[in-house]
Amino acid sequence: MSGIDLLINEHKYVNRMLVVMRKACFDFMQNKEIDYDDFDKMISFVRNFADSHHHKKEEIFLFNKMVEHLGETGKNVITHGMLVEHDLGRNYMRNLEEALDRHKSGDKEAGLDIIANAVSYATLLENHIHKEDNVIFNFAKRSLKEDILEVIDKECLEYEEKNTSIREENIGILNSLEEKYINR
Ligand SMILES: [Fe+2]
Ligand SMILES: [Fe+2]
Repeated sequence: MSGIDLLINEHKYVNRMLVVMRKACFDFMQNKEIDYDDFDKMISFVRNFADSHHHKKEEIFLFNKMVEHLGETGKNVITHGMLVEHDLGRNYMRNLEEALDRHKSGDKEAGLDIIANAVSYATLLENHIHKEDNVIFNFAKRSLKEDILEVIDKECLEYEEKNTSIREENIGILNSLEEKYINR
């Protein structure tokens, strides 16, 4: 498997979690009840898998090389596009965590911020992943030299091998939340 195929494969897990997130928000909207532990699990998946495990590979192994080797276009699409979106996602998660705390302490209005931040994150990431799968990764495959693509493959696969437990653990979280919110 190439490094880029590995990243595309990880998008499938992230997308599944985005569906769970929207559904948990919809349930909250309908029933006015919220399971804080489940939202903590979603945040933990986003931070440990989508951000640390997945975005880290993109940023360090792929995007850095696109900025270095693909001229102005490479620099622009990565630094003003993809990296900005990774940061925006981190902001939404910080705000979501804060809103959950406020809601837990009795501030009912914070429910608005829980839904707003979780749904905004889901929409942002859905569009971000669509752009990577259909534009950015094709641009990289088409434009980076073969030897650079080989380095990316090697770095991504080595990282993956060293971090299988993170992957397994987070897929476990995803499966259990899907059981609860989607397959019931
Ligand atoms: Fe990304
Ligand atoms: Fe990605």
